[in-house]
Amino acid sequence: MNGLKKLEIVQIGLGHVGRATAQIVLEERKNWLDGYGIDIGYRAVADTSGALPGEDLLAQAVRLKEEGGKLSELGTEPIEDVLRSPVPDGCVRAVVDLAVHGGSYDLDMLGVESGAYLVLSNKGPLSGTMQEYRELVGRLPGRLWHEATVGAGMPIISTLDMLQESGDEVLEIQASPSGTLGYIMGEVEKGHAFSEVVKKAVELHYAEPDPRDDLSGLDVARKAIILARKMGREIEPEEIPYESLVPEGLEDVSLEEFMERLPEADEAFRERISSVGEGRRLRYLAKVPREGAVEVGLVEAEVESAFGPIDGPENVFDFRTRRYSDVTLTVSGPGAGPERTASGVVFDLLDIAHKTL
Ligand SMILES: NC(=O)c1ccc[n+]([C@@H]2O[C@H](COP(=O)([O-])OP(=O)(O)OC[C@H]3O[C@@H](n4cnc5c(N)ncnc54)[C@H](OP(=O)(O)O)[C@@H]3O)[C@@H](O)[C@H]2O)c1
Repeated sequence: MNGLKKLEIVQIGLGHVGRATAQIVLEERKNWLDGYGIDIGYRAVADTSGALPGEDLLAQAVRLKEEGGKLSELGTEPIEDVLRSPVPDGCVRAVVDLAVHGGSYDLDMLGVESGAYLVLSNKGPLSGTMQEYRELVGRLPGRLWHEATVGAGMPIISTLDMLQESGDEVLEIQASPSGTLGYIMGEVEKGHAFSEVVKKAVELHYAEPDPRDDLSGLDVARKAIILARKMGREIEPEEIPYESLVPEGLEDVSLEEFMERLPEADEAFRERISSVGEGRRLRYLAKVPREGAVEVGLVEAEVESAFGPIDGPENVFDFRTRRYSDVTLTVSGPGAGPERTASGVVFDLLDIAHKTL
């Protein structure tokens, strides 16, 4: 679109990723204005208590959320009203969904119906039923950006786009797409107790707010669905069984009790790691072929494979395609953490601005 002067953000979620995103936007936008003539600002930020309009109180809001407060303390309006409000002339709106799981699907739809672009780090809206997926994606031809849903700030979705748009055929993606599980497996291998390592992963914000989302394999399964659907597969969540690392009996207890009782599982986990064959490493992988079963669970990977050396919150994505069949295309790097995830979100925002200028 010619004549774009401004990209306005309606951000759903001011948690770890949301705050890191707001911080980058506030710090960098003068450079974007000077360098590219792109004026990026906030129309509103929302948490579960409502939407804070404008950006006069944004820095204060970030501090308040760091201390565990609610935006309603600063004066909020219903997020639905903001999403329904018309987009000002000469302006493009991006709804940036940095909330957790599926609770924001209807809000995203509302934004989209008002003509906004959609940027997601939240996997929920893309990993529900096929019907929801079709409805959302169908309304957004060319208006959906979601790099940060898979691999945090790493170029995974854009690599997949590049391969497919250039006419290559993706035959299979094998991935270690959970920074949390990559970190946990690596640390337990070094001799640290499973329970201690899980606690550390939460402290470092590698893990989801409830680490069972990672340990259950659900987070990896969600990423596998997103990749499979981008490869053109029509796949329902229940078609992807995933192996859970949540100790039996701790699936439904409170988060507090779960953390307290986690050491009960340390011994069994140590034994599982030490039973792995020579020259192999236990890794939690997703296998997404073009056809056939999508698999998510623990695999004894060869030390020499792309997955053997993983140490820390690293992600590895191995693309086997028609053009990359003798040697696969491997993208690896740190795939977790609020700042890195926020980089992916901000890159999407800039890409929208560049493409709509
Ligand atoms: N952290 C990472 O490394 C990482 C990496 C890749 C992707 N992600 C994804 O990015 C998203 C955000 O992660 P995070 O670590 O920032 O989570 P978080 O710290 O729990 O923050 C979530 C935020 O979303 C808000 N929220 C939840 N439901 C909402 C709703 N229906 N309406 C408005 N606001 C809502 C919460 O509000 P309250 O404060 O009021 O509860 C909170 O501000 C998640 O979907 C996560 O899976 C995270």
